[in-house]
Amino acid sequence: MLASSQLFILPSSSHFIIYSFYHLLISSQQYIKENPNLVTFVVEMKKFIHDFQIISNRRINKEYFVLSLASENQIPEIKPGQFVQVRVDNAPNTFLRRPISVYDVDYERNILYLLIQIVGEGTMILSRLKSREILNLVYPLGNSFSLPDGEKALLIGGGVGVAPLLLLGRWLKEQNKEPVFLFGFRNSGLLVDIDLFNRFGKVYIATDDGSTGEKGVVTQHSFLRNVSGDIGMVYTCGPEVMMKAVALWAENNEIHCEASLETYMACGIGACLCCARETVHGISHVCTDGPVFNSKKLVW
Ligand SMILES: Cc1cc2nc3c(=O)[nH]c(=O)nc-3n(C[C@H](O)[C@H](O)[C@H](O)COP(=O)(O)OP(=O)(O)OC[C@H]3O[C@@H](n4cnc5c(N)ncnc54)[C@H](O)[C@@H]3O)c2cc1C
Ligand code: FES
Repeated sequence: MLASSQLFILPSSSHFIIYSFYHLLISSQQYIKENPNLVTFVVEMKKFIHDFQIISNRRINKEYFVLSLASENQIPEIKPGQFVQVRVDNAPNTFLRRPISVYDVDYERNILYLLIQIVGEGTMILSRLKSREILNLVYPLGNSFSLPDGEKALLIGGGVGVAPLLLLGRWLKEQNKEPVFLFGFRNSGLLVDIDLFNRFGKVYIATDDGSTGEKGVVTQHSFLRNVSGDIGMVYTCGPEVMMKAVALWAENNEIHCEASLETYMACGIGACLCCARETVHGISHVCTDGPVFNSKKLVW
């Protein structure tokens, strides 16, 4: 069944549009089903559909968990910012795959990591998966973050928006850049893998209640008041309102900023057009043109 969240954006009077939209979704899901090994879409990178075996399901706190997934196939290069579309099996109300950022990749052990927050039925079912169960992914999807001009880069994440920033931090470090993380969480009980991020750069934290780090929202953190001119790029992912504030801060400080959007998606491959996003150049589609955008190109 089509999730109501996807129908919501369509004009309620237009049954034809809803029908066509639904038909497109069915067709794209069918196409994916009938091409189990390899699908090449209009974008330049090959997309794969692979079964992964769950190696572990590590619970971080009451909302977040990390799935470690092993594949029999060699995992292709995955760029920071790219995402996978997860098929949620045994979920009668979760017809559509769920988009999840790639949290990390271990190419030597051929393991892919996903950091997931439980928000609804699909993510709840994923949170209950056990070792040796199978998860089917379409990947790698979307574009990726770009290299900063200068040496230092500031990575600002809120809540589950930290997910794409671990692989980004790893990549920046490999490129001899210096990532600095600034994260916002609701409270100390919802902090996520700070020690892992710490391996790549210093982590500053803000919590709504001040239980860890500074009290308040991430964009009020004192770090942002004391930034010198050595930050070459700001990357951000998290709630829209946070990213908008980060984008404004970056613009005021004349720092280039890339934002990774977590818009509602259906097909994830450019077929259904439900992830439309207004930009200064017109409508873009987050699953294929994004999810990473130059913040100045977005209409906030
Ligand atoms: C490119 C991209 C990357 C993402 N990466 C991650 C990730 O790494 N980890 C992760 O946990 N989540 C990520 N998300 C969000 C994730 O896809 C949704 O949380 C998930 O699809 C919800 O599925 P569900 O069945 O549990 O919830 P549903 O039952 O579909 O929805 C439950 C509630 O969550 C809200 N919701 C659902 N999807 C979104 C969304 N995209 N944005 C805001 N609110 C939403 C609904 O309005 C509803 O209130 C990403 C989304 C995108 C587009
Ligand atoms: S999710 Fe279908 S076009 Fe983007």
